[in-house]
Amino acid sequence: MNQHAGARPAPVPLSISLRSYAPPDFNNLYAIDQMCYDPRIAYSRTELRQYLGFPGADCVVAETSRNNSAPAMIGFCITAHEDHWGYIITMDVLSDYRRHGCGSMLLLEAEKRLTAAGVRQIGLETATNNSAAIAFWQKHGYRKSGVRRNYYPGGRDAYSMAKRLAGSEKVNTGPA
Ligand SMILES: CC(C)(COP(=O)(O)OP(=O)(O)OC[C@H]1O[C@@H](n2cnc3c(N)ncnc32)[C@H](O)[C@@H]1OP(=O)(O)O)[C@@H](O)C(=O)NCCC(=O)NCCS
Repeated sequence: MNQHAGARPAPVPLSISLRSYAPPDFNNLYAIDQMCYDPRIAYSRTELRQYLGFPGADCVVAETSRNNSAPAMIGFCITAHEDHWGYIITMDVLSDYRRHGCGSMLLLEAEKRLTAAGVRQIGLETATNNSAAIAFWQKHGYRKSGVRRNYYPGGRDAYSMAKRLAGSEKVNTGPA
């Protein structure tokens, strides 16, 4: 169980809007990814550009604005797909803005777009010690389908997780 579970104050409502990524967002995307992950896992600029250029790649950006200031990016989700298979490459929400529903909004939009592109099953990997992310994915119907040993730099393992989209059949839980 998460150490903060049970004693969490009610979050202050946050106004969040979503839009598609545009190339001028790149530096913000990179900065957010660096803040969201251990430096050994965070993507380099080159990796991030490669993922954004994958076949079927898409990126949804979340913004918020406070006190009439210009919208500020607080998170994003990069996906890719091929035929009926979708993949969540990364999902990042800045720590100050977590538990306000931002990740859920990004995921629902990403799933909507993948569904519209004909995807029936979505997969992802998440570190076996990332309890927040595992809880997040499970809340959204993703189930563990295997463990990938030494998946991350530094030797950390990852769970493969997958979800069948509405109207599809059972998740493939074969060996990862
Ligand atoms: C995982 C992540 C994207 C979630 O974003 P978020 O905006 O906080 O997500 P939401 O507010 O929509 O949370 C939805 C639900 O997920 C679960 N959840 C999210 N964070 C959790 C945590 N720290 N502990 C337990 N459950 C959690 C809860 O069920 C939550 O619903 P609740 O707040 O009503 O209890 C965010 O924590 C993050 O960016 N982490 C760092 C990067 C990362 O690990 N990404 C995923 C890699 S695979």
